[in-house]
Amino acid sequence: MRFGIHTLDEFEVSGRVVLCRIDINQPVDKKTGSLRDITRIKACVPTVRELAERGARVVLLAHQGSDIEYKNFYSTRPHSKVLSELLGREVQYVEDVCGPAACTAIRSLKNGQVLLLDNVRYCSEEQTLFELKLKLTHEEQAQTQVVRKLAPLADIFVCDAFAAAHRDQPSLCGFEQVLPSAMGRLFEREYCVISDMMENPKRPCLFLLGGAKVNDAFLMMRSVLENGAADRVLTGGLVANILLLAKGKHIGRASEEFIERSNNSGNIRIAKELWENYGERILTPIDLAGTDDGKRCEYTLDTIPEMFGALDIGSRTAKAYAKEILAANTVFVNGPMGVFEQAETELGTRTVWEALGETQAYTVIGGGDSITATKKYGKTDQINYICTGGGALIRFLSGEELPAVRALRDAALRE
Ligand code: 3PG
Repeated sequence: MRFGIHTLDEFEVSGRVVLCRIDINQPVDKKTGSLRDITRIKACVPTVRELAERGARVVLLAHQGSDIEYKNFYSTRPHSKVLSELLGREVQYVEDVCGPAACTAIRSLKNGQVLLLDNVRYCSEEQTLFELKLKLTHEEQAQTQVVRKLAPLADIFVCDAFAAAHRDQPSLCGFEQVLPSAMGRLFEREYCVISDMMENPKRPCLFLLGGAKVNDAFLMMRSVLENGAADRVLTGGLVANILLLAKGKHIGRASEEFIERSNNSGNIRIAKELWENYGERILTPIDLAGTDDGKRCEYTLDTIPEMFGALDIGSRTAKAYAKEILAANTVFVNGPMGVFEQAETELGTRTVWEALGETQAYTVIGGGDSITATKKYGKTDQINYICTGGGALIRFLSGEELPAVRALRDAALRE
């Protein structure tokens, strides 16, 4: 038992049907339907391999696509092929989630065989819009079709989908009501790394928060400053620009107009509060960069031209942040320092990522853009831990109890 949740060590799985919820949701090429990344598929391999090697009959349940963000769903067939290659053993696929074809395929499994069911979000009860509208309790989720059909065929439920643990959906929170339940190895590792970082980080502990998801960044910022996990928060991207504006700094009219257009007036109020309560622990840029005629230009804060639009932190700030990273013992990063996709405005992000590769600190990265930057600058092997979670990680770091964690804990308490 860890964190009040059963682990795989506590169950005999040989000959048992283990229903395992994984998160292999990946960006998809909309034209060809092929997967543009396989990071999350790789990440679930240790759990699936362990279950198969221990003789379980493994049934994998997963989603692909979001009804809120991507507005489209895809089959999990391509994922079964990738997983087969990574595991070096066949992963069967059935074009069904909980209907007769899926049930027959589950009943036909032999010890050590692995079956991937189709996209669980093809079931309407599993969709985020349904979740938000109906707010089913976990007991009610156990009454949904997917749980009523699949649970009687399984002996054990394993949740390895940490990246989806913030979703209050039947495939994540319903099975724990009716089956002995454990977290998988990836779930355990992700939970362990980030809870350690929140509760017991090696000091000094820095949080670098950038990018354009300001709501998420401010939620996290408040939480890690309030609970003391962060000694300092270094900021970049839109997050930093809003903090600077809230402090009354001139950041250029184009920057200000962008902030207005992107509905950030509420965030300026939050930024003021953050300054009042934790100002001495928040670092903002001392210079900013933009482009003029396609060329990079930089200004210190007191020389920003009237019409300026900030697209990156300046080189002095980047250097100062790199120095902080090199002197830290724990660094968590979510979000780039600017528009790192363009050569003229990538210096800030590149400098910070170089420092992340060099520092002796324990480094943790989370969020899609940060993972892309890590790959772009070839730092994947130098970062200590790359979280698969986006929304789940942010909510965890903001101090929320994740629904799937609650469901797993409740299951352990009931036994
Ligand atoms: C993710 O991509 O963050 C997870 O797979 C959860 O997806 P969702 O935000 O569509 O629920």
